[in-house]
Amino acid sequence: MPRIAYVNGRYVNHSDAMVHVEDRGYQFADGVYEVCEVRHGLIVDLSRHLDRLNRSLGELRIAWPMSRAALIHVIRETLRRNHVRNGLFYLQVTRGVARRDHVFPAEGTPSSIVVTAKSTDPSVIAKKNANGIKAITVRDNRWDRVDIKSVGLLPNALARQQAKEAGAQEAIYIDHNSMVKEGAATNVWIVDTDGNLVTRPAEHGILRGITRTTLMDVAAKLEVTVVERFFSVEEMMAAREVFITAATSICFPVVAIDGQTIANGHPGSVSQKIREAFFDVAEKTAI
Ligand code: PDD
Repeated sequence: MPRIAYVNGRYVNHSDAMVHVEDRGYQFADGVYEVCEVRHGLIVDLSRHLDRLNRSLGELRIAWPMSRAALIHVIRETLRRNHVRNGLFYLQVTRGVARRDHVFPAEGTPSSIVVTAKSTDPSVIAKKNANGIKAITVRDNRWDRVDIKSVGLLPNALARQQAKEAGAQEAIYIDHNSMVKEGAATNVWIVDTDGNLVTRPAEHGILRGITRTTLMDVAAKLEVTVVERFFSVEEMMAAREVFITAATSICFPVVAIDGQTIANGHPGSVSQKIREAFFDVAEKTAI
């Protein structure tokens, strides 16, 4: 079955899906994106993802490529055309096409929009949840606006590659005070010695993950206390549990970091409880 992508007004075969060589996303990473999970034919947390898209666009003064309602229609249609029941959609909006110049193009230059969708194998995710994943720590070398979900992901890609070469699946960013920030493409959580869920405050050099926000709703429902505070690498290494969250990896347990085993080396019960309750609590939108 051919994959279909939506590119600037047209649904095209994925293999023919092209953007212009002078698209500012291509030349300057001048764009933003969202990744959103689809489970059992339902889009997870669509409203929150579109609200964050709105914020990212606003921070960079990039115009919406179309109305929110039209974009929802395009997302659904792209998912339908790709027959996605379990998987994700990716959308990217850039400042559009213009002759290469660092300053913004002329007022009215249309933004570019691409939407793609793909199916994922739930058994691969289940295996990661059952076995846990490994991570490494790396010093954060990104710009200081990582609160914007920008497509400028070169440091993140390099960090993930470094993790892979070390036999791990995620790289965890550490700040200059040895405090934990977030993963290359995930937020980081620990269960501390009091049994509280702890994660770094979103105002301090991390992306405010949508999964992170919804997880707080889940924790409230399960009567698990969430504390937003700084925590050190040392505290993480000694935590009862460590796990990471992102739209495509809800609550992956981390069982080893920098070659050191976390707790007893097995996925913990708190992350499991949260993962199991997550889908019920999240907003679900039919395709
Ligand atoms: N990454 N922090 C970073 C740096 C991220 O790139 C992501 C998401 C998150 C988690 O955000 P959310 O819960 O909204 O997915 C945190 C996506 C999945 C990606 O780049 O593929």
